[in-house]
Amino acid sequence: MAETTDTAKLTLKGKTYDLPVYSPTGGPDVIDIRKLYAQADVFTYDPGFTSTAACDSTITFIDGEEGVLLHRGYPIDQLASQSHYLEVCYLLLYGELPSSTELEKFESLVTNHTMIHEQMHNFFRGFRRDAHPMATMVGVVGAMSAFYHDSTDINDPHQREVATIRLIAKMPTVAAMAYKYSIGQPFVYPRNDLDYAANFLHMCFAVPAQEYHVDPILARAMDRIFTLHADHEQNASTSTVRLASSSGANPFACIAAGIACLWGPAHGGANQACLEMLKEIGTVDRIPEYIARAKDKNDPYRLMGFGHRVYKNFDPRATVMKQSADEVLELLGVENNPVLQVAKELEKQALADPYFADKKLFPNVDFYSGIILEAMGFPTSMFTPIFAVARTVGWISQWAEQLADPQLKIGRPRQLYLGEMERKYVDIEKR
Ligand code: CMC
Repeated sequence: MAETTDTAKLTLKGKTYDLPVYSPTGGPDVIDIRKLYAQADVFTYDPGFTSTAACDSTITFIDGEEGVLLHRGYPIDQLASQSHYLEVCYLLLYGELPSSTELEKFESLVTNHTMIHEQMHNFFRGFRRDAHPMATMVGVVGAMSAFYHDSTDINDPHQREVATIRLIAKMPTVAAMAYKYSIGQPFVYPRNDLDYAANFLHMCFAVPAQEYHVDPILARAMDRIFTLHADHEQNASTSTVRLASSSGANPFACIAAGIACLWGPAHGGANQACLEMLKEIGTVDRIPEYIARAKDKNDPYRLMGFGHRVYKNFDPRATVMKQSADEVLELLGVENNPVLQVAKELEKQALADPYFADKKLFPNVDFYSGIILEAMGFPTSMFTPIFAVARTVGWISQWAEQLADPQLKIGRPRQLYLGEMERKYVDIEKR
């Protein structure tokens, strides 16, 4: 826990309360209000947690004004260009970059756990054929606690470690199977001679009838998408995982909760929503109409892939993703794809519009990731499952950090109650 560096004073109904203030290694100071209710009989009110630090953490740091994202102190652009996903997983989980022996051991551990329990194939077959892959993933990952009993005891460090490796190793397999099932193709088993990203592409795009070659540039772009989505401090799905875990729930149940939260269009579902929006716009001449709708106060419509709760200048992940998008589009020779043309023109027009500049709304990571995934041949329904694969390491790192915290308490927010106070029940014939 941080040291007290200052004291804030709260005066209420003639009484003054001293509140400890902590100075973090980065970011604004934090006022500790944990004893406020006991001392002053008041709650604080912060729906959406816009001013609330719900935990302390050493994993990821974001400075939204400056567009900074650090994992264990390392900037995301350096990790995206010089490292790769599994090394970033190690860094997030264990706090330091691995030596080559440590990395080799970690990669071998993950690679050798990519297959899922064979009986789980039957479980997949229980879903409706046209189920959204996210719906299937929420169910299948939750069901992993029924298949891997030997790694559900959160009080056993060995079991926690096994669950961690299983989740990172098996999530691409689960996502690829959810996809194959939704398009009526046979499941493709993982190939342990391929790296993490290449294996995922193989499981998604290979068919038994013919040889499939994974293009190394596409595998690199896939790996970069995983790296850029690996963690993002206390976002909605990570906070969901932490809240679920605070009750002592098993890791598979907690990650299933994270997947469910990620699905929403304001969070991980934005990449799918963004591509759908681009397709709906259809042609460049219709862009002004959609921009006008997004600006209209009386219309709830928003430009998907624009804006961020924390980044108010630029999203550093989007900068790397934009470069990657250009590379992939050039490689695939799809620069003239109409959806991608609409995307480029929309970005240009929105950035030139004072509404977006004044409100500090910039394209976020999901704007560009959707474009790359579309060009690679993924249907929009797979965009959020891919985000879930990538974010699993972030969820599980934050989960492990929380479990190691001796001050861990069940998460239990309070409320500002505005409903009726006690009233007498009225019989139905008298209402
Ligand atoms: N299009 C049009 N106006 C917008 C948009 C947008 N995409 N985003 C925010 N605004 C406006 C909003 O109407 C509000 O205006 P006013 O102050 O006049 O009421 C102002 O900007 C601030 O918006 P907010 O809703 O208070 O901001 P927030 O921090 O609560 O929301 C957000 C952040 C990401 C949910 C929001 O920007 C949004 O809905 N964006 C579209 C969905 C999206 O792309 N989400 C992906 C986020 S990045 C991936 C991830 O981390 O999951």
